[in-house]
Amino acid sequence: MPIILGIESTAHTFGVALAKNGKILSNIKKTYTTDSGGIIPSEASKHHELHKHEIYFEALDKSNVKEDEIEAIAFSQGPGLALCLLEGLRFAKELSTKLKIPLVPVNHCVAHLVIGELTGAKDPVLLYVSGANTQVIAYEAGKYRIFGETLDLGVGNFIDTFGRMAGIGFPAGQKIQELAEKSNEKNYIELPYSVKGMDIALSGIQTNLKQKLEKMKLYNKKFASLNSSELNKNDNVKNLDLCSTEDINKKLLCINNKNQRKILAKPDLKQINKRANENGRVNYTLEDLAYSLQETVFAMLVEVAERALAHTGKKELLLGGGVACNKRLQEMARIMCSEREEKVKLFVPEAQFLVDNAGMIAFLGEKMFKAGLFEKNLDKIDIKPRERTDEVDVKWKWL
Ligand code: FE2
Repeated sequence: MPIILGIESTAHTFGVALAKNGKILSNIKKTYTTDSGGIIPSEASKHHELHKHEIYFEALDKSNVKEDEIEAIAFSQGPGLALCLLEGLRFAKELSTKLKIPLVPVNHCVAHLVIGELTGAKDPVLLYVSGANTQVIAYEAGKYRIFGETLDLGVGNFIDTFGRMAGIGFPAGQKIQELAEKSNEKNYIELPYSVKGMDIALSGIQTNLKQKLEKMKLYNKKFASLNSSELNKNDNVKNLDLCSTEDINKKLLCINNKNQRKILAKPDLKQINKRANENGRVNYTLEDLAYSLQETVFAMLVEVAERALAHTGKKELLLGGGVACNKRLQEMARIMCSEREEKVKLFVPEAQFLVDNAGMIAFLGEKMFKAGLFEKNLDKIDIKPRERTDEVDVKWKWL
């Protein structure tokens, strides 16, 4: 049985994995992150360049495989960020030359689907939700067809943009999930719901969220600008429900003094009301916005996935992509599957195979290698940053 090495480098993650006989022997990755702001392609590619050798040797160590046992190098050819893809291709060619073995160019999105085989799924509809990609894909007549997709932003990038606007760093998915869980009594704030046929659109929701965030920040700023003498004029501290965010509550209400939450500030209610009305009262928190974002966008995704199930008649739904790690999305998908008249089974890969990873590249690479889909002439191989899922000819077997 051949051993195939996989390389993933489409965006923020650089990974190396080894696969043999449909099993992942090791799956190592390092992810570029920032404290604020989003992914900077040139910085991400530098990150990949810096860590590629250490990740490669760690993957070899973990799988107990020697370099001369590897028979082919599979790598993410696209779609993705060109600078990041180039770093992966350079490394793949370096290893290919050193070990005198061929390359297997793999489509990253198709790999997200095919790794679903490890869950036991046989012929699923894939709801693939990652940073740059949001697609509903299923196999029909020799190709993986896109039944629905985003018309503008990938859900992951949309969430990261919201995270950037809110100043919570990148990637923001996990933090948004945590914030949403803290939304008081699930305070749903209405957002535009944008499903267009089988597709979704997110830019309108993004603009709406941006306006709501700005309004909240402005309100907070004005509110916080009340000085302490103004705040100390009024004894009535019970009316602090006027403070609409946790930050304001902290600022106005309490400090931790002698380990007790002691009330310090006492707002002048007239002045607060006046200032609040100038900007419009804000009746939500960042947590509520995170919660509403999830409820709205995930409902859109699940609706489109359900339509694809109805259209294709398939009985399996598979989740893929980093956003599919979100527990609320998984829960909503599970509810939809169980409520369909003809029951649909939900498959969720392990988190290590949901996010961007080299395991799925090695896994599909092995299938392609066995089907003769490899290339020895390195000059013929380049990256394909915009390659679409349905451009790939499927010439390998699912199981
Ligand atoms: Fe991905």
